[in-house]
Amino acid sequence: MNIIIALAYLLSSILFILGLKNLGSPKTARRGNQLAMSAMLIAIIVTLTKNEILDFTYIIAGLIIGSAIGVIIARKIQMTAMPQMVALFNGLGGGASALVALAEYNRLTGEPRIDVIISMVVSLFIGAVTFTGSLVAFGKLQGLIRSAPVVFKAQRFFNISLFILFLIIGIIVIINPANSTGLLTILAIALILGVLFVMPIGGADMPVVISTLNSCSGLAAAATGFVLSNNILIICGALVGASGFILTRIMCKAMNRSITNIVFGSAGTATTNNSNNDKRKVVSYTEEDASIMLESAQTVIIIPGYGLAVAQAQFALQELVTILINKSINVRYAIHPVAGRMPGHMNVLLAEANVSYDLLFDLGDINDDFQNSDVVLVVGANDVVNPSARSDKDSPLYGMPILNADQARSVIICKRSLSPGYSGADNDLFYLDKTQMIFGDAKESINAIIKLLKA
Ligand code: TAP
Repeated sequence: MNIIIALAYLLSSILFILGLKNLGSPKTARRGNQLAMSAMLIAIIVTLTKNEILDFTYIIAGLIIGSAIGVIIARKIQMTAMPQMVALFNGLGGGASALVALAEYNRLTGEPRIDVIISMVVSLFIGAVTFTGSLVAFGKLQGLIRSAPVVFKAQRFFNISLFILFLIIGIIVIINPANSTGLLTILAIALILGVLFVMPIGGADMPVVISTLNSCSGLAAAATGFVLSNNILIICGALVGASGFILTRIMCKAMNRSITNIVFGSAGTATTNNSNNDKRKVVSYTEEDASIMLESAQTVIIIPGYGLAVAQAQFALQELVTILINKSINVRYAIHPVAGRMPGHMNVLLAEANVSYDLLFDLGDINDDFQNSDVVLVVGANDVVNPSARSDKDSPLYGMPILNADQARSVIICKRSLSPGYSGADNDLFYLDKTQMIFGDAKESINAIIKLLKA
């Protein structure tokens, strides 16, 4: 029996790895999800058929309730609310790991093995940090908590002190596992640190936080795997931890941020620099102006952003692109790595509208071409084209590479108002002479342009 379980776990691990590999490209992502789902199903079935379970009542109740909640959320969730859901699920994963560690601690009889007690401490700490950190991230993304950073004096010192305190108490508990007060103190420190870790992060830096918490939930699960001596949990947790870490590095690189600064200090201070808004002139143009501009262009670059997802304008946008291409205009999409609210958000949206991957270009591949482009059409994007990221040291976006929309010969921006993007920073691009602001819902504006181009 043991050999069958081991082989099934091995098969499940291979499927998880293949699933992750397939998730690396939008073309194969659907298959990647299916492979990972099959891997999870095998892992659950095999774990349930192991002889260690005495009573299935709670397991079945948990499966039914959990599956029902999962199905309802997955069916109801709006694409734009996906990041909050990911944050919440990361948190639940971390919370579950912390609870398993506590439950296993309560079951201990006699002196535990050192590796088991170390794993318990690690699982409890990382799981609890992930739990409260993810709840705060959820609150910020959902708009329940102000997304602006909440900082207090000597915060970095306080965070580091709490972390050192955890290390000291952790060593005490490992030396003397009977010290249950120590374990509960670790739980309290971790819950507080989770909140302190995410509260100071605001503005545009949430992508790094979400991917870091994602990685932490995997590490907590892997540690729990050691507590339970469950190989598939160790492998699966390590895979989530490693892929979350890689994503964190990609996000840090995309935003030109250092992870230590984000973890131990405040980042992305959201200031709304609207002080000279009213002094500057913004000219509102019509869809007709935009259609004339687009029709007379030879090269057009389209920059989608979060507003595209809100407006669900991806289908209309692709129809517009097809019309322009049929008029022999060179059209490409420029994708910023943190456009939208989750990694790959724009790729997923555009894939929904069957946009050919050949038309999609990453920041690094297209940024030098803006200066040779006739028109840039910005659809619901804001922070990712905000020039203050280059020059304004007080901007929450300072240092983040942006798409060089301002270098094109002319710029058309479709959004509803002059309101700032996620970071809260005002955008100078709106006020340039070469910029045409088309105010309104992106889908309605694009449909109006399509109608004019077809006429
Ligand atoms: P944002 O800077 O958030 O700007 C989106 C713009 O869309 C808003 O200014 C809004 O202006 C406009 N908009 C909203 N609904 C619209 C509609 N129906 N029609 C037309 N426009 C609409 O978006 P971005 O440029 O994609 O930048 C993403 C930001 O989110 C970055 O700061 C990034 O760091 C952050 N973030 C990203 C992630 C990931 S992983 N991608 C996760 C969390 C946070 P109006 O209200 O005036 O229309």
